[in-house]
Amino acid sequence: MEPSSDPVPDRIEVGALVLVRPRPEDCAELVAALSDSDEIARWTRIPYPYRPEDFDAWLARDGHSYLIRTEGRIIGTTGAGVDPATATAELGYWLAPHARGAGHAVTAARAVCELAFDRDAARIFASVIVGNLSSSVVLDRLGFTFEGVQRSVAAVNCGLGPARIDLQMWSLLPGELT
Ligand SMILES: CC(C)(COP(=O)(O)OP(=O)(O)OC[C@H]1O[C@@H](n2cnc3c(N)ncnc32)[C@H](O)[C@@H]1OP(=O)(O)O)[C@@H](O)C(=O)NCCC(=O)NCCS
Repeated sequence: MEPSSDPVPDRIEVGALVLVRPRPEDCAELVAALSDSDEIARWTRIPYPYRPEDFDAWLARDGHSYLIRTEGRIIGTTGAGVDPATATAELGYWLAPHARGAGHAVTAARAVCELAFDRDAARIFASVIVGNLSSSVVLDRLGFTFEGVQRSVAAVNCGLGPARIDLQMWSLLPGELT
């Protein structure tokens, strides 16, 4: 079956979290949330320092990611958009430092993985820079399988890390989400 190209839902409620699609008026709050953590620059491909222009570019090209909100406040983002050509989705997530340690990344990422499978994803993958232990734990909790390590990969946009990195590869197939 072809993966769905219909728009994703605007809002998903899951426990104490609300996942909402980003809108132009979210720019200042998201830029502020992303300025608060060197770890996001160290472990993700999110531009660093993050500027309003980066938000505008993200909004223009991204058709699937969600802001994670709790008590009305942005605490992170997540997404797993399905590429219709390959029925494959890449999972991504980050949380602001004050929101970590409460299981929110697992809860939010599980919701977008469910959505990707509902939209006929045949494979969801995620890559984690070696050393980012809390992210590896998140994937393990979701039921992802560790596939191996890609060595000495060019670190595109990883603002605070080395130019080349080792990348753990993880994948999740239909029926494996925990
Ligand atoms: C990855 C991230 C979203 C995880 O947030 P979180 O779900 O709140 O994760 P936690 O801080 O609860 O850590 C998850 C688990 O890893 C464990 N962990 C963290 N560091 C660890 C270490 N050095 N050794 C062993 N376990 C470790 C924690 O103890 C926790 O387990 P617990 O729930 O049993 O206590 C968050 O750290 C983040 O936003 N990091 C920066 C951006 C990022 O790395 N994004 C992912 C890119 S692949």
